[in-house]
Amino acid sequence: MDTTGSFLMPPAQSTYAGDVDALFNFILIAGLIIFVIVIATTVFFSMKYRRKGMATKTSGTDHNLGLEILWTAIPTALIVIVFIWTFRSYIKMSVVPGDAIEIKVTAQKWFWTFDYAEGANSVNELVIPVNQPIKLLMSSQDVIHSFFIPNFRAKMDVLPNRYSITWFEATSTGTYDLFCTEYCGKGHSEMLGSVRVVSEEEYKKWIDEGSDPGKGLTLEEFGRKLYVKKACNTCHTTDGSKGVGPTFKGVFGREEIMEDGTPITVEENYIRESILEPKAHIVAGFQPVMPTYQGLLKDREIDAIIAYLKTMKAE
Ligand code: CUA
Repeated sequence: MDTTGSFLMPPAQSTYAGDVDALFNFILIAGLIIFVIVIATTVFFSMKYRRKGMATKTSGTDHNLGLEILWTAIPTALIVIVFIWTFRSYIKMSVVPGDAIEIKVTAQKWFWTFDYAEGANSVNELVIPVNQPIKLLMSSQDVIHSFFIPNFRAKMDVLPNRYSITWFEATSTGTYDLFCTEYCGKGHSEMLGSVRVVSEEEYKKWIDEGSDPGKGLTLEEFGRKLYVKKACNTCHTTDGSKGVGPTFKGVFGREEIMEDGTPITVEENYIRESILEPKAHIVAGFQPVMPTYQGLLKDREIDAIIAYLKTMKAE
C-alpha cells in the first residue's frame, strides 16, 4: 500500500483506497490530455484561418466521416471505461463484508460518539483493529453531518431519523484524521476526531478497558481525561476565553446569571443538571446548543468531571 501520499492525496491506507486513487488519476490524466488537445487545436486553427486583410482563407471542407467517427468513438469508449470502473469500485465500497465488526456512530453538534458491540464507547476517537473490515452504522441526533476519513477514502453522510452504512478495512496501524464534511453549524470546523488503528491484541485490550475507563486514576485526573475524551473541550475553554459555552476557568463556585435573569451559583447539582439536562438552565448570552450526555456518562464519570472543574481556579 502507498504510505507516502502525493501532492493531491494523503496516503492510501484502506483496502479500497487504491481503487479510488487509480480511478481519480485516470479521469484526471484523461481530462488533462483532452484539455491540451482541444486547446492546442483551437489555437492552431484560429491562427491558421485568422483573417489577414481582405483575403478569405475559409476551408472548403464541410464534412469528414472519419473525423466524426473518431470524435464520437473515443469519448464513448472513455465514458464506458469510466462507468464500468466506477461501478465495480462503487460495489466494492458499498457491499459490507460478512465478517465485518459493527460499530455504531452517532453524530451530533459537534462531536462523534462511537459505541462498540462489547459495551465500550468513545467520543471523537474511533479505535479499530488493523486488517479487519469495519462496518459503521451511523445516525445523527440533529442535523446532517458527514463522516470522512481522507486516508481511507471513506466518506458518508450521517442523517437524522435514519441509518446510513459504510465500511472500510485499514491496512496499516497509526492515527488518522476524521472530519465532518457537511456544514452543520457554528462548531462544524471543530467537529474533528481521530481514528486509531491498532493491532488485534491492542484492540481487545482497549475494549476490555472500555468497560472501566477510570481505572487507576484519581477523580481529578479522570475528569481531566474526560474533558478531552468526551469532547467538552469543543465548546468550553479552560483559559477564560469565550467559547460556544461558558469557560471552565473558575467555573466552580461562580455565580452565573441565567437567561431569565435569575442568578445560579455553580455547584455540584447544577453541574450534574447541566450535563444531563443542559437545556434546563441556560446562562445568559449563550445558545441552548449543548446536547444531553444522558446515557453517555456514568455517575462516576460525572463525579470525575465535577472534581476536575473544582481544580479550574479563576487565578
Ligand atoms: Cu458536523 Cu459539520
